[in-house]
Amino acid sequence: MKISLKTKLFGAFFGLIVFSVVLTWVLNSTLLQKYYYHNQRNTMRQSYNIIKDAYNNDSDNIMMDIEKIESLRGTAILLFDKDLNVIYQSRQRNLQMLRENRHIMGTAPSIDRKFIKDKISRLQTDTPKIEIRYDKRMESNFVSLYAKIDDNIYIYMGTPFAAIQESSQIAISFSILTGLLTLVLGGLIIYILTSRVTKPIVKLNVIAKKMAVLDFSEKYYVNRNDEIGTLGESINSLSKQLESSIRDLQQANLKLMQDIQKERQIDEMRKEFISNVSHELKTPIAIVQGYAEGLRLNVNDDEENKNFYCDVIIDEANKMDSMVRKLLELSELEFNQISLERDNFPINELITDVLKKKAILFAEKDAKVTFNSKGKDNVIVNADYYYIEQVFMNYLSNALNHMDDKKIINVDLEITDTKARVEVFNSGKNIPDEVIESIWMSFFKVDKARTRAYGGTGLGLSIVKAIQKAHNNAYGVINKAEGVMFWFETDLA
Ligand SMILES: Nc1ncnc2c1ncn2[C@@H]1O[C@H](COP(=O)(O)OP(=O)(O)OP(=O)(O)O)[C@@H](O)[C@H]1O
Ligand SMILES: [Mg+2]
Repeated sequence: MKISLKTKLFGAFFGLIVFSVVLTWVLNSTLLQKYYYHNQRNTMRQSYNIIKDAYNNDSDNIMMDIEKIESLRGTAILLFDKDLNVIYQSRQRNLQMLRENRHIMGTAPSIDRKFIKDKISRLQTDTPKIEIRYDKRMESNFVSLYAKIDDNIYIYMGTPFAAIQESSQIAISFSILTGLLTLVLGGLIIYILTSRVTKPIVKLNVIAKKMAVLDFSEKYYVNRNDEIGTLGESINSLSKQLESSIRDLQQANLKLMQDIQKERQIDEMRKEFISNVSHELKTPIAIVQGYAEGLRLNVNDDEENKNFYCDVIIDEANKMDSMVRKLLELSELEFNQISLERDNFPINELITDVLKKKAILFAEKDAKVTFNSKGKDNVIVNADYYYIEQVFMNYLSNALNHMDDKKIINVDLEITDTKARVEVFNSGKNIPDEVIESIWMSFFKVDKARTRAYGGTGLGLSIVKAIQKAHNNAYGVINKAEGVMFWFETDLA
């Protein structure tokens, strides 16, 4: 069982009080009477000396001295002559009269004179004899002194022992009373003191426990100038430092986690990329292998056959070459390894130039390509000419590859406040909504069979995305009623 510091302190101090109260009581009840008796003996001896002195010096005050001793000390006094006749007994006022009427006194009832005479007669030295005498008639003990004053006169003095007992009884019961009062008051004071000492420790304990579970909200209110106050200050500063260190640590940890996450993502992307590249290369390499073998086996065949084999090999090699170039370009763009060569040029002219260059291709594919340039002369933009041409050509080649039987391709140029927006529409199937975001990823193809047919690698749009990002410009695709429209923006000069 855990005992609190407060209980322990309270117990220790209260125990100390109880111990001292009990000790006082025990000492009082065992030793007080003896001590009293001892004192009483001394007092008797003193009284005896006073009377002896007065008598020897023939003092006139002897009556006064005797009376004082009788009344103040509650002592009965008897004086005897050398024949042991009583010549004075307490409560008699006139000594002279006493001396003359010795016989009257002989009948004084209160003192056991026979016993006293007997004692006195047996006195051997001049020193007074003191002892406790039990008086049968009084049924009480007396502290008694028997002594010689000179050769002619003897004295007896007696003080009731009951008085001593009573006084010590009173002292003991009073000590019990004061003891109880001390216990109550002392207990109260100790309770208040221990509370004052332990309260801040309890509070500090609460704070420390909260700190242990990383709750640093609680602070110690320092309002004292002692060791506990200093401890409170130390705990406060510890809490503050811990809080900031842990916050830093948590932030660092969060950053680390993010970095790890990023690293994992990059690793994932790298793996996917490698698998994609190897997958893309597998087919052309297999074809090259196959046709090269075929060429070796059919060496004797006719020239036309040989040429066909060679054409296929060259074609596949070109595809691989084109893919590798695209990949290189893409990685350069994505890792910011190229710096754009920005120039001011009319974008409408770029469009017409490209359309002119590709005119034969359009004719071959029977595509109806239009560009309505009316009112859009001399739209000067600021961009890297080579890369913007690439973006446009990629859109255009995609349009050619995906147009339907209507074979419509419309190019449009829109101008906003700060941007020129080029749109390339082709009639054809919409791109499904669930993959419309994915077409910008490397190697992504909506319809793999169709893409293989025109020899697409799935890199065109990711190159567009990288170029637009490098220029910090927007791009996108919108499904239209009868086709798809791709767009991109460039900065107006
Ligand atoms: N105009 C379009 N109409 C319908 N689908 C399109 C169109 N343009 C692109 N796509 C889809 O987006 C995919 C990715 O296009 P992207 O240009 O990146 O690759 P690609 O044309 O197949 O190959 P590459 O451009 O590298 O020769 C295409 O495979 C195709 O499925
Ligand atoms: Mg393409």
